[in-house]
Amino acid sequence: MRFPTSSLQESAAMLSPQLLVSCFCLYIFLRLSHFIYKRSFASSPLDKLRGPVPVSFLKGSLPNLFGFKAWDFHRNLAQEYGNAARIKGALGDDFLYVFDPLALHHILLKDQNSFEPSPNNLLVTQLFLGDGLLGTWGDTHRRQRKSLTPVFSAAHMRNMVPLFYKIGQKLEKAFAQRVKDGPQEIDVLSWSSRTALELIAQSGLGYTFDPLTEDAVPHPYAQAAKRLIIVLGRSNVFRIYLLPFLMKIGTAKFRRAMLELTPIEVLQEAREISDLMHETSVKIYEAKKKAISDGNDAFKDHIAEGKDLISILMKNNTGVSKGEKLPDKEIIGQMSTFTFAATDTTSAAIARTLWLLSQRQDVQDKVRAELSEAMLGKDTLSYDEVNELRYLDAVCRELLRLYPPVPAIARMAREDTILPLSKPLTGVDGKLMHEIYVPKTTKILLNIFNCNRNPDLWGPDANQFKPERWSDLPDSITAARVPGVYSNLMTFEGGARSCIGFKFSQLEMKVVLSLLLHKFKFSLPKDKEIYWNMTGITSPCVIGDADSLPPRLPLIVEEAN
Ligand code: HEM
Ligand SMILES: *[C@@H]1O[C@H](CO)[C@@H](O)[C@H](O)[C@H]1NC(C)=O
Ligand SMILES: *[C@@H]1O[C@H](CO)[C@@H](O)[C@H](O)[C@H]1NC(C)=O
Repeated sequence: MRFPTSSLQESAAMLSPQLLVSCFCLYIFLRLSHFIYKRSFASSPLDKLRGPVPVSFLKGSLPNLFGFKAWDFHRNLAQEYGNAARIKGALGDDFLYVFDPLALHHILLKDQNSFEPSPNNLLVTQLFLGDGLLGTWGDTHRRQRKSLTPVFSAAHMRNMVPLFYKIGQKLEKAFAQRVKDGPQEIDVLSWSSRTALELIAQSGLGYTFDPLTEDAVPHPYAQAAKRLIIVLGRSNVFRIYLLPFLMKIGTAKFRRAMLELTPIEVLQEAREISDLMHETSVKIYEAKKKAISDGNDAFKDHIAEGKDLISILMKNNTGVSKGEKLPDKEIIGQMSTFTFAATDTTSAAIARTLWLLSQRQDVQDKVRAELSEAMLGKDTLSYDEVNELRYLDAVCRELLRLYPPVPAIARMAREDTILPLSKPLTGVDGKLMHEIYVPKTTKILLNIFNCNRNPDLWGPDANQFKPERWSDLPDSITAARVPGVYSNLMTFEGGARSCIGFKFSQLEMKVVLSLLLHKFKFSLPKDKEIYWNMTGITSPCVIGDADSLPPRLPLIVEEAN
């Protein structure tokens, strides 16, 4: 991410920024005109599909689709059009919206090489997160996935449990301090995100950023990681429509120089954040490299004693053949990638469980009863004991089904393809369609939310929170062969780019929830109403807050008896 000062950059800096910006504007204007011309006059095979009427030609249906309160729009889409629809994007652009299980199976498994994130998205991700799993594709991505899959194995996850409990207990202690004199309102999201960040920091990078005490001053890295997602969210327009054009020009070094000269505040902030994260990653990398060359004992004074994900990866990397070795920059890239991918997702899942159980005291009591029995006479549980908590497991699955932290993901067709459908659709001409012809470069939005709530798969009570359903799943869900890596759910996606950390994240959720629900009772504050926004990763806010950023989730916490 941090490119050394190059001669190109120096010569670029000598030109006036205004001149460069004007040239860019002209370039973009020309590109856009060409793009609109193409869109307005060409017909698309997706025209056969029904879909919602766009808000305007300029914005298409994007404000509805990605609005903070888009939940109803998505529910209605499923009801009106079935398992797939055509959506208008900006300037007449067409999207395929799909959650049909058979079509998803083709996209993520059967025909996975024909569907990757769009090159623009990948390049932009790479610009901010480096050469990790989220920002690479094709052979590089496959090679990384091959080296990283064993790092996330069950055997390694088992070893993480004591460290997870050690960190979880700091959170427990902070809460105990707060509520020792009676019920208190606590921003549960701020604590769950600090905890999730510290969990991935220690067990992922072997580093610590936060002592998890009430008055701790956040480490700059922790602050940066927290800001990055907010900033990336605010810079959507630039990221989606401006950066992709810029990304096509010149070399990586030139693009980097251009980024530095672009007078757009959010982009500059995102760049500073990613630089800071990168510099920290390099420091961590160098320390580990030294420990490896000094021999295994050198890890003794490291945070996770060399058992964190990156150390496991680096130790293995010294032993593998040349073709399989990951270069330094790809290992460094995994650090920002893991931090980014692991923190807000897991913290949203933990916070949402506590929010939901605040409204379902019956479920909360039942979880607590299971924990009281399992934790009788002990403060922590082992890997096997955690996995034996059947009811907590069902609660987590049901939560991740109904409220996936990542509600949708985007792909692009790299080839012309035909997608089969499990249930026919009615086309605009009134005829039944059994498959969809998807031309190369079609943008596709895979909807996780609607697949997880499809009544054809889950039954008529699909929209209800029922942990009991997991002990007796209907045949329709197993028959549908949803391509998700986890539990017939799309929550962690499926196939070659599915969430590599899903077991890790399950374990984090269960460890943190087991500690908190054992000791504390959670309920909704009487004077505040909470709303979960449909952001890229869902985020809660208090209705009526003047500035609802950063997101927060106030809940009433008291000692459980
Ligand atoms: C509840 C928590 C989590 C959810 C819902 C979640 C969900 C997802 C989803 C939907 C993707 C696919 C993204 C895409 O294709 O655009 C993904 C990818 C990924 N996740 Fe997670 N994730 C969670 C936790 C974690 C954790 C704890 C880690 C790391 C330790 C992690 C690491 C990753 C990585 C590295 C990728 C990229 C994989 C690849 O491209 O090969 N995730 N996650
Ligand atoms: C080390 O890497 C190789 C190839 O990438 C893989 O086959 C092996 O399982 C890995 N071993 C461990 C312990 O991670
Ligand atoms: C949630 O949505 C509201 C608009 O409905 C917006 O003002 C607020 O900034 C959003 N908050 C978060 C945390 O996304």
